[in-house]
Amino acid sequence: MNPRDQFFSNVQKFLEYKKEEGFQTLELSVETRMLLQPDRKAAPAPQRPAPARAAKPRLAFSVSESKQGGGAAVAGQTLEEIAAQVAVCTACPLCKTRKKTVPGEGHPNGPDILFIGEGPGADEDEQGRPFVGAAGKLLDKMIAAMGYKREEVFIANVVKCRPPGNRVPLPEEMAACIPYLKAQIALIRPKIIVALGKTAVEGLLNKPVTITRFRGTWCTYEGIALLPTYHPAYLLRSPGRKGEAWSDLKAVLAKLDKVPPGKK
Ligand code: URA
Ligand code: SF4
Repeated sequence: MNPRDQFFSNVQKFLEYKKEEGFQTLELSVETRMLLQPDRKAAPAPQRPAPARAAKPRLAFSVSESKQGGGAAVAGQTLEEIAAQVAVCTACPLCKTRKKTVPGEGHPNGPDILFIGEGPGADEDEQGRPFVGAAGKLLDKMIAAMGYKREEVFIANVVKCRPPGNRVPLPEEMAACIPYLKAQIALIRPKIIVALGKTAVEGLLNKPVTITRFRGTWCTYEGIALLPTYHPAYLLRSPGRKGEAWSDLKAVLAKLDKVPPGKK
């Protein structure tokens, strides 16, 4: 290990130790975090604005594996800052073909529900916003049927850049990107996570699943209730499955002590 890596490794161990002691926050300026990117040279001092080739997600301390809930967010690490890091991220090859990064959007603070999809498609890549294409229209209807406005929930994806041709993101792309989602979840602290489709579930739980079997099965992610259901794009191809998806969404409402509008 070179001296620089050794230094980071020592700092990492020290901070893990402090975390075990109960320390949950570490204030770091954006500049400091940029300097801490592993692939940056130690000198010279950073210029403003920070250079575009910066960010392997290195959020190990902003994302605590809290046993009680969504984890602790680093003070000063905001959703906007995560989005800014994502915007210059080159941690996986998807950065080469993306037009816009799609960090996610919605209610930033304790929403009832966080929906997590797979990754941006063509429309999302154009607009830099999640679920704005055909699948997004169906997701909007699902959200409305549950009695929510789109801005009352949070919507994000496992990868923040579009996989070419809408292919499924590769395991290494998901692994590179997941720290951003983890950091977002720790900040947003949703009451419930709805994982839309196989890739979202696999990205979060890091194990292979069969979505037709696994959907509707409650599990947890970082202490937050997680329900897998079908991806709206799949529902557009297989409308016969919409009943199962709706029963999943009703289970989400029941867990929140709510009923669908019009059924009061
Ligand atoms: N499909 C996804 O998984 N995410 C989006 O943002 C759009 C379509
Ligand atoms: Fe970075 Fe994620 Fe985009 Fe890959 S998909 S370049 S890890 S933001």
